[in-house]
Amino acid sequence: MASDAVTLITNDHRMMEQLFDRLRDGDGDRQLLLDECAARLTAHSHAEEQKVYTELPSAEEAHHGADEHHEAERLLHDLQRISPEGPDFDEKLEEFIAAVRHHVEHEESVVLPELREAVSPERLEELGAAFEEIRIAELAVAGIRV
Ligand SMILES: [Fe+2]
Ligand SMILES: [Fe+2]
Repeated sequence: MASDAVTLITNDHRMMEQLFDRLRDGDGDRQLLLDECAARLTAHSHAEEQKVYTELPSAEEAHHGADEHHEAERLLHDLQRISPEGPDFDEKLEEFIAAVRHHVEHEESVVLPELREAVSPERLEELGAAFEEIRIAELAVAGIRV
């Protein structure tokens, strides 16, 4: 199984989207799903910022990505503070999902291709391992096993 940073990050995006689908469908306790979402989003974002964005040729792109991570976290925290049964939940959920989708699309179409151009295949594997190390450690603190 491929373990380079681009593949691992992309796989984790797909996993996050599955959680979004479950939130939309009400497939499981929404409060628990939101908690899992928050833990996975934070772990993913921190691992990217600490181990992957630092390798990007453009510091501006790295800052932009980190700003979008913070915006997504803010929207998710707003969502965690309201009742899943309340009148605003669905709208705020869609706002959060749209913000993450925008970020993920930019990452996959611009940022990750730039990373692949900028570093060697060996380095991309090392970055994948470093990304996973941070991500898994943060998830363990949140009580989530991968
Ligand atoms: Fe990402
Ligand atoms: Fe990101």
